[in-house]
Amino acid sequence: MADEPLPVPADRLPRHVGIIMDGNGRWARSRGLPRGEGHERGADAVRTVVRAARKMGISALTLFAFSSQNWDRPPEEVFHLMELLRRYLHEEREEILENGIRLVSVGQIDRLPAHVREPLEELKAASASNRDMILCLALSYGGRETITAAARDLARAALRGEVDPDTVTPEVFERFMESSRLLPPLDLLVRTSGEHRVSNFFLWELAYAELHFTETMWPDFGRDDLVEALVDYARRERRFGKTSEQVAAVAEPAPAEPAHGGSAR
Ligand code: IPE
Ligand code: IPE
Ligand code: MG
Repeated sequence: MADEPLPVPADRLPRHVGIIMDGNGRWARSRGLPRGEGHERGADAVRTVVRAARKMGISALTLFAFSSQNWDRPPEEVFHLMELLRRYLHEEREEILENGIRLVSVGQIDRLPAHVREPLEELKAASASNRDMILCLALSYGGRETITAAARDLARAALRGEVDPDTVTPEVFERFMESSRLLPPLDLLVRTSGEHRVSNFFLWELAYAELHFTETMWPDFGRDDLVEALVDYARRERRFGKTSEQVAAVAEPAPAEPAHGGSAR
């Protein structure tokens, strides 16, 4: 439930928003600061945006916080990002629990150090019955890695005789994707920092998501930027391969034929 006036009609609000939070390093560099300062300020932006999304009544928010490829960054930067995550989980615990937020994650969390993985697992369990918003952290996450893991699970199920390969459709395959067990379909992807790429995020889930790109660097991203993305989304017509006329006909069903005396067609 939304707590404040919505920037767009409730039925035009995306259910699931994903954000590629990019530009921390450039934000810092442009101010003559170390990259780590950008990550610190980026963590503050996370707090602001989670709070705003929850107040607006968005059902699910996925934040791409650390990619499978980000492990290749300098060790001290990786260490700092892990430390920020640990701190975030500790400092936001109460707010998450008090605001009905359910924390989930996608990605290879077994690769995370124990001082991040353990509080993450704890907060996921503690918030599991919350219903107001799902906050999904994509951690050690890669779209290709996730699809490959689903393919492995599917192959194993086929070897056990539980799945007939001839019956595998996209719908069947999707059941093996961890996101489909945790999240509604992705409606809107936001990427900050002016980059126009998806950098291995949610490759499967992006099939029919709307894309919103902004020049804003992640540490500067706030409620107004989220509103701008939602207003942009609300203006889109999602056709899923159909024609505009078909979409309009579903949105506004034609008036019913009169029961008697209607003109023949
Ligand atoms: C996003 O900001 C944070 C992570 C990817 C973890 P970057 O650190 O990628 O910042 P830029 O892209 O170098 O500016
Ligand atoms: C994408 O940003 C990953 C996250 C935001 C966590 P990157 O900064 O890693 O992406 P590239 O390297 O610009 O594609
Ligand atoms: Mg980047």
